[in-house]
Amino acid sequence: MTKKMTITSIMKAKGNKPLVMITAYDALFAKLLEESADMILVGDSLNMSFAGKEDTVSATMDQMIYHTNAVCMGAKNSFVICDMPFGTYTDKEKALKNSIKVFQETSADCIKIEGGEDKAEIVKHLTQNSIAVCGHIGLLPQSVRREGGYKVKGRSDEERDQLLRDAKAIEEAGAFCIVIEGVKANVAQAVAQSVKVPVIGIGAGVEVDGQVLVFSDMLGLFEEFTPKFVKKYMDGASLVRSALKDYADEVQNREFPQEIHTY
Ligand code: KIV
Repeated sequence: MTKKMTITSIMKAKGNKPLVMITAYDALFAKLLEESADMILVGDSLNMSFAGKEDTVSATMDQMIYHTNAVCMGAKNSFVICDMPFGTYTDKEKALKNSIKVFQETSADCIKIEGGEDKAEIVKHLTQNSIAVCGHIGLLPQSVRREGGYKVKGRSDEERDQLLRDAKAIEEAGAFCIVIEGVKANVAQAVAQSVKVPVIGIGAGVEVDGQVLVFSDMLGLFEEFTPKFVKKYMDGASLVRSALKDYADEVQNREFPQEIHTY
């Protein structure tokens, strides 16, 4: 069994070894995933992948707490991050109240919030009140309706400079780690080089301090759409379909259950 990562070991990994982050939403998968992951993110992407919604925006505190508890039960030896859902950290006091709820009702090690310079005051307030914070900059899924889609960032000098300011602002505010999503690889690299905390990429190229993927994307289980940055490490949907077809055939042909499955 590998040792559970801590904020200190995660920060020390920068420059030494790329960090492996993956999402999980339940105990069953969390237990499997923790064998290979340094950090498990209970992402609000569960609203799409698990709950079947169009985007992450309607995820709720209750949902996040329920799933974070399940993940913590399954992955007892993992550093677990709980994503704060849309609308739950719009000001300092609201953010602190909701983060305390996460800390009191789950054993998550930190929370994650989307936003850069604009959220620095909130990050500072949380960290000053003993809430560990993972930032999230670049393409922000919770802003999809305002932006009218998922837009890759870092394409212009202005966007590049803003991303550098975002990373610096939340690092100075006390974030111990930053997820950077949907950003041109050269810009993500510059961002990673500009801060001392690990920068974990998703759709941000290889020259960052680690990678995160949504587990149902990388296992080929989520079929609604596949972003360019996703690598499917297996064709999970086909495997599930084929197993279920075998089961249905055997039930219909009275081949299952056999003697060994019978009392
Ligand atoms: O919700 C999520 O799964 C995330 C990842 C895409 C980083 O925030």
